[in-house]
Amino acid sequence: MTEKHVVFDTDPGIDDAMALLYLNACENLKLHAITTILGNADIEQCTRNALILRDLFRIDVPVYKGSAIHINGTEPDDYPDFVHGADGLGDVGLPEYSGDIEREDAVSALIDLSKKHEGELVILAVGRLTNLALAVQQDDGFAGRLQEIIIMGGAYQHPGNVTPFAEANIIGDPEAAEIVFRTETPLTMVGLDVTTQTRMSHEYLEPVVGGLAFGDFLLAINRTYADYHVRTEDRHDFPVHDSSALVYATRPDLFETVTGHLSCTAEGEERGRTVFREDANGPHKVCINIDSNAMLEEYGQRIASFYRG
Ligand code: RIB
Ligand code: CA
Repeated sequence: MTEKHVVFDTDPGIDDAMALLYLNACENLKLHAITTILGNADIEQCTRNALILRDLFRIDVPVYKGSAIHINGTEPDDYPDFVHGADGLGDVGLPEYSGDIEREDAVSALIDLSKKHEGELVILAVGRLTNLALAVQQDDGFAGRLQEIIIMGGAYQHPGNVTPFAEANIIGDPEAAEIVFRTETPLTMVGLDVTTQTRMSHEYLEPVVGGLAFGDFLLAINRTYADYHVRTEDRHDFPVHDSSALVYATRPDLFETVTGHLSCTAEGEERGRTVFREDANGPHKVCINIDSNAMLEEYGQRIASFYRG
């Protein structure tokens, strides 16, 4: 597979951390920047977490701070500390970090990178789509310069995980999602239809990250994540949200997709619902199936060969 030029737009987040771990191990993904967005915690904490993870995984790319508010100017009422902990990374004690954010903001950086890598840039967006929507609003040419957007978010034939209809990243900022969908930029939705098909557990992760310099930290944060799923589903394993979108970027052959048009419901009890109309000529793809065993093998092998040499 040829190299992809990518930006990681993220709200770290326990599963965001696991996705970044995998992204860093993918030699066919050339990461140019990490842009942050509020979501699993507020923007200050999510940005701090991005700096921590960058140090932990020894990733040499700039971190740009994203929007602290939604596209319509509102602020979140609260953050999902019951899933990711108050610090967004499991409340297990955050490692020290040394670097700093860039002076430029995330939206300007996204626009600049789209010019620098015109026609080649792939945005891997695993949080709400606010930064992307702001870039669309600030620069008419932004969306047209992207090669593709791959999102973790949404649900097609699967119920939501925040309401019966809506997934967290999309209901976080439905107006932003609609702005991004309307650009008709090629976009693949890696939503709950597939991210709930693959599950990880301590038993799976221990041999994958155990013994690495940051292994204990990753196992601890995933214990917090697992605890949430014990409380809510009575299961010790947990769905693989953000990493599934990253695996799609490198191994699309593991996924079954349908093509068509996405839109997002903004009003009423279905607010945040991703609505999909199948059309072979549409700009959007929705993942509907995944080879979960192959995905877990891909994830584990990629981590082993990169971090264990
Ligand atoms: O619904 C799952 C998504 O919400 C993931 O991106 C997770 O990190 C949270 O932001
Ligand atoms: Ca996320």
